[in-house]
Amino acid sequence: VYHLKPKELHLASNGPFGKFDRQQLQRGFKVYEEVCAACHSIKHVAFRDLAALGYNEAEIKAIAAKSTVAGKDPLTGEVKDRPGMASDYFPPVVYAGLGHPPDLSLITKARHEGPAYVYSLLTGYQEQPAELLKRFPEAKTGDGLHYNPYFANLNLAMPAPLVSDGQVTYSDGTKATVDQMAKDVSAFLVWTAEPKLENRHQTGFWWIGFLIFATVLGYMAYRNIWAEKK
Ligand code: HEM
Repeated sequence: VYHLKPKELHLASNGPFGKFDRQQLQRGFKVYEEVCAACHSIKHVAFRDLAALGYNEAEIKAIAAKSTVAGKDPLTGEVKDRPGMASDYFPPVVYAGLGHPPDLSLITKARHEGPAYVYSLLTGYQEQPAELLKRFPEAKTGDGLHYNPYFANLNLAMPAPLVSDGQVTYSDGTKATVDQMAKDVSAFLVWTAEPKLENRHQTGFWWIGFLIFATVLGYMAYRNIWAEKK
């Protein structure tokens, strides 16, 4: 009863005709880069994939160069750290704190109602209800843990990452409220988990169209064949 179902989250990519809102994905990437990337990797995404969000080559090179990756020297085979290039994947993140921050590339697929869950988790931190403590004293939030009713365990190791409005500076004029940042990063994580979502939606659209056409054709053929057998 204390574990809550995710709040509703409306994203442009929802529904059978959904398309990504690229402005939102760019804002979400900024939230990821400036906040989440301190602890979480997105190892299935390559820097050059960001072209799909509308970044140009120079911007992507600049984003990649901010990361340090372990690169293999093509001549000597020696592995050493160098600035990231467009063709590199986002590197692993070393985290010294409590718990294991999971890789976020596929998190919106890995959790039930993924995008809404991530949004709810980020905006769901609160005081532990006194009534819960009374009924289940053993559920008391432990040292280094944080209460969040959207987390199945109720207590998790991640401290609230989005805490103040304007934590990230948006360049498109959108107000960076905590709620907005949480929505945007959730939208971004829908994209990391399924960058080809729009193609899938479009393919489905043509398929349904073809099936309707085939049904009509089949019906007409049936009428034609039986026309004289009344
Ligand atoms: C876990 C998202 C920032 C540390 C998680 C989970 C998600 C998430 C979805 C998985 C919860 C689950 O297993 O169902 C995010 C997002 C962030 C962010 C979107 C940025 C807005 C951070 C930061 C830190 C952090 C900055 C470190 C200070 C952790 C840890 C866990 C975790 C340690 C594991 C928690 C546990 O299993 O108890 N995060 N996170 N996260 N995150 Fe974050």
